[in-house]
Amino acid sequence: MEKKRIFSGIQPSGALTIGNYLGALKNWAQLIDEYDCIFSVVDLHAITVRQDPKELNERCLGLIAQYIACGIDPEKCTIFIQSHVPAHAELSWILNCYTYMGELERMTQFKDKSSRHADNINAGLFTYPVLMAADILLYQADLVPVGHDQKQHLELCRDVAERFNRIYDDTFKIPEGYIAKMGARVMDLQNPEKKMSKSEPAGSIALLEDIASVTKKIKRAQTDSLGYVKFEEGRHGINNLISIYGAVTRKTADEIENEFQGKGYGDFKKAIAEALVAELEPIQAKYQELMNNKDYLKSVYTSGADRAREIADETIRKVHQKIGYIER
Ligand code: TYM
Repeated sequence: MEKKRIFSGIQPSGALTIGNYLGALKNWAQLIDEYDCIFSVVDLHAITVRQDPKELNERCLGLIAQYIACGIDPEKCTIFIQSHVPAHAELSWILNCYTYMGELERMTQFKDKSSRHADNINAGLFTYPVLMAADILLYQADLVPVGHDQKQHLELCRDVAERFNRIYDDTFKIPEGYIAKMGARVMDLQNPEKKMSKSEPAGSIALLEDIASVTKKIKRAQTDSLGYVKFEEGRHGINNLISIYGAVTRKTADEIENEFQGKGYGDFKKAIAEALVAELEPIQAKYQELMNNKDYLKSVYTSGADRAREIADETIRKVHQKIGYIER
């Protein structure tokens, strides 16, 4: 039987955080044996916000290395850079014509980003979710492993695909989201009511963060004055730490509560820092090793794009035919 297919991607728009790792990358690594996985560095998405060309260029290569360092073995899956496969931009245009302004106006990420980048509310920022839908639908993906913040975009993707399929018969596979129980919403350590984000270094931990700083940031993380470790409504700081620890160790909230019964936040934070450091150290070492072998990284993203192009072009052919375009 053919394996089901997975598609997911990360923007090269800043240093990856443990939010990206626990919400996405760590889960991807666990799915590569069971699924036909396609993972992209989504550089077309990144320019919806201004990027420095040199930094963007370096970050794309760094992201390929971080994918592999996190266990995304390129021998077992496809890793490529989005701009190397023109079909993404092509399908995105087509789907723009099947997506309503009202649907895009409802997107919370658009509202959030346009308030943070008020001097650059460009059309790409607005139609960003359509490009994301194109990414997924091009590969006829069954499953899309993402963090919780991408749920709304995924729903839009399904709506657009269903609309297209209604008009032209079955064209696209309708994808399902894969959002893990623990780690899907890693919050800012200093402001745990806000999502941990690449753009807020103070409350976030980078995947490549200096190890001493990882421990320091966990120790300084916001908690509360209750003094016991239990997942409870409204305890944003503690709930966040439980989910970080749970996502790293794959323990449930119940198991974590039992483990720290009668213990204080000091012990809890020490355990989190140790678990996190043990997880990050080998990733960082592998990353350094990979960055010293740029030829290898190039061979990964070149052969990845070759395979991606083949699948994506097949979908474009199908879409063109359905719409009524003359065959190339
Ligand atoms: P991006 O680049 O912002 O984030 C990459 C992945 O990391 C997850 N994530 C988080 N998970 C838990 N806690 C957090 N604090 C946290 N921050 C980020 C995101 O949910 C995501 O899974 N639009 C996407 C990129 C994209 C994509 C796609 C994803 C473009 N095309 C097609 C899947 C399929 C984005 O901006 O993710």
